[in-house]
Amino acid sequence: MVSFGLEGGAVISLQGVSKWYQGQTKVLDHVQLELKKGDFLYVIGGSGAGKSTLLSLLATEELPSSGKISLFGYDLATVSPSTLRAIRQSLGYVPQNIRLIPDLTVFENVAISVSLAGSRVLKKESRARILELLDVLGLAGKKDKAASSLSGGEAQRVAVVRALARSPEVLIADEPTGSQDRDFTWTLMDLFMRSNVAATTVVVATHDREIVRRVRKPSALLKAGRMSVEDGLCTL
Ligand SMILES: Nc1ncnc2c1ncn2[C@@H]1O[C@H](COP(=O)(O)OP(=O)(O)OP(=O)(O)O)[C@@H](O)[C@H]1O
Ligand SMILES: [Mg+2]
Repeated sequence: MVSFGLEGGAVISLQGVSKWYQGQTKVLDHVQLELKKGDFLYVIGGSGAGKSTLLSLLATEELPSSGKISLFGYDLATVSPSTLRAIRQSLGYVPQNIRLIPDLTVFENVAISVSLAGSRVLKKESRARILELLDVLGLAGKKDKAASSLSGGEAQRVAVVRALARSPEVLIADEPTGSQDRDFTWTLMDLFMRSNVAATTVVVATHDREIVRRVRKPSALLKAGRMSVEDGLCTL
């Protein structure tokens, strides 16, 4: 395990980050962002505003076209493969398109994210944590079902369990309540808040203004690729 040794420093830092795809205008345009351990940030903005693009950069899925992204103090453009692996192990990512492995069971999908060897070598406390999270999210009865048999909302909740079960230092959740009813929306938000209280840095992209109104946290608005502070709440 790499020691990140960043007492008081930025866990996430974006400096002048732009992203564009071939033949397109900039999806992200000089985004500046600095988040410390235990910060919580909403990323809001209309469809196509670049929320998922930003979160996929934070999740180390892509590199920016220009600018610099550092996680735990490491510049992602120059980090060694072994440090990058350790960084990824410290991230929990709920992608908008969920990406469960269809032939594995619900439990196996989560277990493989906690330990690459999957459920065969899970520690007792990891197993207990997974079962508790599945239970809280109404999935206890589905744990041995193939992921391919789940509804969209159920699959999305499994993706949240997969991200939280590894007790990440950074949680990146892309529209994690997009397919949920109101009750599960608040259950999910409660889980994110608990994780945040336990010092996880949390970034949630959402369309849902009611969430942002009810669970007051700093928010950043993306519009035409530019990021700006909303409601004067943001500490950027
Ligand atoms: N791999 C890609 N190749 C080309 N264009 C892309 C790619 N990924 C995203 N884009 C474009 O970038 C823009 C932003 O997309 P993104 O998915 O980040 O938006 P979003 O804010 O998450 O939208 P939504 O609310 O609908 O999820 C869109 O115009 C999209 O077409
Ligand atoms: Mg999106």
